[in-house]
Amino acid sequence: MNILLTGGAGYIGSHTSVMLLESGHDVVVLDNLCNSKAASLKRVEEITGKKILFYQEDLCDLAGVNEIFRQNSIDAVIHFAGLKSVAESVEQPLRYYQNNINGTLVLCEVMQANGVKNLVFSSSATVYGNPETVPINENAPVGAFNPYGRSKLFIEKILTDLYLSDKKWNIALLRYFNPVGAHLSGLIGEDPSDLPNNLMPYISQVAVGQLQKLLIYGDDYETPDGTGVRDYIHVMDLAQGHLKALEKLNSGPGLVTYNLGTGKGYSVLEMVAAYEKASGKQIPCQIVGRRPGDIPTCYANPCLAEKELGWTARRGIDEMCTDAWRWQYLNPKGYV
Ligand code: NAD
Ligand code: UFG
Repeated sequence: MNILLTGGAGYIGSHTSVMLLESGHDVVVLDNLCNSKAASLKRVEEITGKKILFYQEDLCDLAGVNEIFRQNSIDAVIHFAGLKSVAESVEQPLRYYQNNINGTLVLCEVMQANGVKNLVFSSSATVYGNPETVPINENAPVGAFNPYGRSKLFIEKILTDLYLSDKKWNIALLRYFNPVGAHLSGLIGEDPSDLPNNLMPYISQVAVGQLQKLLIYGDDYETPDGTGVRDYIHVMDLAQGHLKALEKLNSGPGLVTYNLGTGKGYSVLEMVAAYEKASGKQIPCQIVGRRPGDIPTCYANPCLAEKELGWTARRGIDEMCTDAWRWQYLNPKGYV
C-alpha cells in the first residue's frame, strides 16, 4: 500500500516509517517540521535502504494537502501531525486547537474529496483523564484536563461523526500510553526541540550529561513507592500496532478504538533504576512537588488490540531503556 503519514518526520512517525517500509509498503510523509527535522527521514532511509517521498507542508494548507493527493495514489493515512506539549497547550490553547483540530478537518476534507477513507489517528491515554479504575478499558469514561487532551478528545468525536455520516470510512483511534525507547540501530529516536517535558527523554539527557538532575514530581501519590505510575511502551511495539491497525482497516471494520499499551505500570523510581542499569550511569534525582495536572496511576488493558489486531507489546522496560540510551549516547544533541 501507499501510506501517507502526516507528521511522519516526528518521533513516532519516523519509527512507524521504518516498520512500514520494512513490511513492503511505500511511505509518503507530510510534515511542516515544526517539531522535527528532515534528518530523521534520511536516517529512516539509511536503516531501510528505501526511499521516502517527503513534502514539507503544513497540514492546515488545504490546497497544498490536496496537491499531495493529486500527485500520489494514497491508499490510507496515518495521522500523527499535531502539537503535543501539555504545558504549552495551557499557555496557547488557540494555537493547539487551530493546529490539531483544523489540521484534522483539512485532512479529512481532502481525503473525502479524493475517495481515501482509511485513517489511523494518533490519540492518547490522556483522553481518559484521571481514570476511575486501572487497567483502563476502551469503554472507560473519557474527559481530558487540558487543551492538548481536549484537542485529542474533540478529534475523536469529529472522526466518529464523520464515520456516522458515511459508513464507507474505516477509522482506527489508537490511544497510545507512554511511548519510549528508540530503534535498535540508534539512528533514530526522540529529539525534543526544547527542554524535555516527558520522563524518559529527560532521564536520557541527564544520563548523557546535557542536564544536571531529574526532578521527580511528587513521592506522595497512592502508589507503591509514592511516585507516578505509567504504562511505558516501546516505540517499535507502537509502530507495529499501526501496521496491524492498517491491516484491520482493510477488512472494513468501520470505526474502531484500541489502547496501545503493555498493561503494566512502572513508577518513576522504577524507570530511573532500569535506566541506570541499562546505561551504567547514575541519574541524580531530586524529589519536588507534584506537577499540576498529573495523575497517580495510568495503565492500559490492551486485550482488545490483542484480540482484534493480533497485537501485543513484546519489549520490556530493560529493552526500552537500553534502546533509549543507545540513541542518546550516539546522538547526544539529537539530529544535529
Ligand atoms: P512529534 O512532535 O515528534 O511528531 C509530530 C509531528 O507532526 C512533528 O514532526 C511535527 O513537525 C508535525 N506537525 C505538527 N503540526 C503539523 C502541521 N500543522 N502540519 C504538518 N506537520 C505538523 O510527536 P510524536 O511523539 O511523534 O507524536 C505523534 C502523535 O502522537 C501526535 O499527534 C501526538 O499528540 C500523539 N501522541 C504522542 C504521545 C507521546 O508521548 N509521544 C502520546 C500520545 C499521543
Ligand atoms: N515525571 C517526573 N519528572 C519529569 C517528567 C515526568 O517526575 O521531569 C513523572 C511525571 O510526574 C509522571 C511520569 O513521570 O508521573 C510520566 O510523565 P510524562 O510527562 O513522561 O508522561 P505523562 O503520563 O504525564 O504524559 C504523557 C504525554 C501525554 C500523553 C500521556 C499518555 O505527555 O501527552 O503520556 O500517552 F497523553
